[in-house]
Amino acid sequence: ENYFSRKSDLKGVKILVTAGPTREYLDPVRFISNPSSGKMGYAIAAACAERGAEVELVSGPVSIAPPPGVKLYRVETAQEMFEKVMEIFLSCHMVFKAAAVGDYRPETYCPTKIKKDSDKLILTLVKNPDILKELGKRKGKCILVGFAAETENIEEYATKKMREKNLDFIVANDVTRQGAGFEKNTNEGLLITREGEVIAIPQMDKKEFAHRIIDEIIKRCPALCQ
Ligand code: CTP
Ligand code: CA
Repeated sequence: ENYFSRKSDLKGVKILVTAGPTREYLDPVRFISNPSSGKMGYAIAAACAERGAEVELVSGPVSIAPPPGVKLYRVETAQEMFEKVMEIFLSCHMVFKAAAVGDYRPETYCPTKIKKDSDKLILTLVKNPDILKELGKRKGKCILVGFAAETENIEEYATKKMREKNLDFIVANDVTRQGAGFEKNTNEGLLITREGEVIAIPQMDKKEFAHRIIDEIIKRCPALCQ
């Protein structure tokens, strides 16, 4: 594949991409989050747009600029991301769920700044909705691509997530590796298909990685591009 064969192969395809971290607020000035930079999700959104897709990007707070030609929706919490995604995905042919969604949020939100009055502060966290799992229940013909951040048993855990969330593909990343994971400019990992095929993608720039996974997905979903 080269640039020219990729050009416009996603014309007429509508794609939702989620990216970045979420913030789970304790009070107006404090939150629980994670180091996601949004780079992988933004690279996917950019790659899809370059190939002619109509791209909707739902993003948590990140410091990078949205790619040209992409419609950006800014969200902060997992709950906000959930609501936006549920609204948008209905009109989409494909979803890339690259966001690092907070699994838990503080049980109570204090509307005023919490004062350091006590020596110990005990936080109770409650589970956030699993956005991707919910999409898996409602997906219809929509192609769902999940991401799995793992530190061990990469293929096994990622495959389990793909099955449990009813996904078509999952990109499995070993976040302990030098060439992959949070804040990096490169990625490497496995693209696993619903049929159980495992495609190893070596370390490369996140944008090139994005094009590679799109290439592999398109090959297996001929109905996507006429
Ligand atoms: N995900 C989601 N909503 C959540 C949590 C995760 O949509 N509340 C999505 C992520 O965007 C990603 C996939 O689920 O595409 C897998 O995320 P990951 O954190 O690797 O797995 P979890 O299912 O959250 O399981 P765990 O963190 O326990 O490994
Ligand atoms: Ca998680």
